[in-house]
Amino acid sequence: MSTYQTLSNGVKIPMIGFGVFQTKSGDETVNAVKWAIEAGYTHIDTAFIYGNEESVGQAIKESGIARGKLFVTTKLWNACIREGTTKEAFYKSLENLQLDYIDLYLIHWPTQGRNEAWKVMEELYEEGKIKAIGVSNFQKHHYEELMQTAKIKPMVNQIESNPRFNNDELIEFCKEQGIVVEAWSPLGGNGTSMLGNETLIKIGEKYGKSAAQVVIRWNIQKNVVVLPKSANKGRIAQNIDVYDFELTKEDMDTITELNQNTRSGADPDNFNF
Ligand code: A2P
Repeated sequence: MSTYQTLSNGVKIPMIGFGVFQTKSGDETVNAVKWAIEAGYTHIDTAFIYGNEESVGQAIKESGIARGKLFVTTKLWNACIREGTTKEAFYKSLENLQLDYIDLYLIHWPTQGRNEAWKVMEELYEEGKIKAIGVSNFQKHHYEELMQTAKIKPMVNQIESNPRFNNDELIEFCKEQGIVVEAWSPLGGNGTSMLGNETLIKIGEKYGKSAAQVVIRWNIQKNVVVLPKSANKGRIAQNIDVYDFELTKEDMDTITELNQNTRSGADPDNFNF
C-alpha cells in the first residue's frame, strides 16, 4: 500500500495529512504539529480561517524538517474570494507560514467569485508559488461550472467524508475526472460519535487497532487522502500507525454500509459564511 498518490500534474501527495481545524493557535498547534512531524507525518493541512497558520509555520521551522520533505496545504477564505483579494490572501498565508511556496492551495468553499479566484490561483501556480491547486467542498455542478472558464483542472477536491456520510458518489465522480479526493472530518466530526460505533470497534479488535485507525485505513484503501486531526500526542502517533494491517473486502463493505447520508458539517449547496 503506497503512502502517497500522484496528482494529475505529477506532484506526490502523502495519503495521510495532519489536520489542524479548531486546533488553537499558540502552544496547542505548535506542539501538535511538532509531534506530528516527529511521528512521521509529512503532510500538514491548515487554512487561513483556522487562525493557526503562524503556529503551523513556527512548528515547521522549529521541527527542523527539510522543506522538500513536507507537503503543506492551506486554503483561500470565502471573504477573500468574494472581495477578489486572492493574491493578497495567498501572500498573507505564505507570510504566516514563513514559507516561500505552498504545496497545495485550495478554494475553501464554493462561494461567489470562485471562478475569478481560480484564475488568480492558476497564475500563482504558473509562477511556481503553488505546486498544486485545487478546490474544497465542490459539488459536481460547482466543478462543471468552473471548467467552463478554467485553464487548469483542479488537482484535488477536499470534501466531507466519513463512514456516516461517505460521499461516495462525489468521490467516484472526482476519480473519473482525475481529481484526487481528500476527506475532512474523517473520524466523523467532533470525533466521539463515529469512534464509539460498535461495528468499527469490532472490526478494529480483529486487527488490534482502534476504530479511528480502522476509519483512516478504510480511506487509504479507497485511495482517498485522509486528514485526521488530534491535539493529543498519543492519538497523533496512533492515527499514522495504519500501514501494518489491511482491511478485507468484507470489512471495507461493512464500513461502507454504515453510511446514513448525514453530514456533520455545512452543506456546500447551502451555507452562509
Ligand atoms: P483529540 O484532539 O482529543 O485527540 P475529525 O478529524 O473527524 O474532525 O475528528 C477529530 C476529533 O477526534 C478530535 O476531537 C480528536 O480529539 C478526536 N480524535 C482524533 N484521533 C483520535 C483517536 N485516535 N481516538 C479517539 N479520538 C480521536
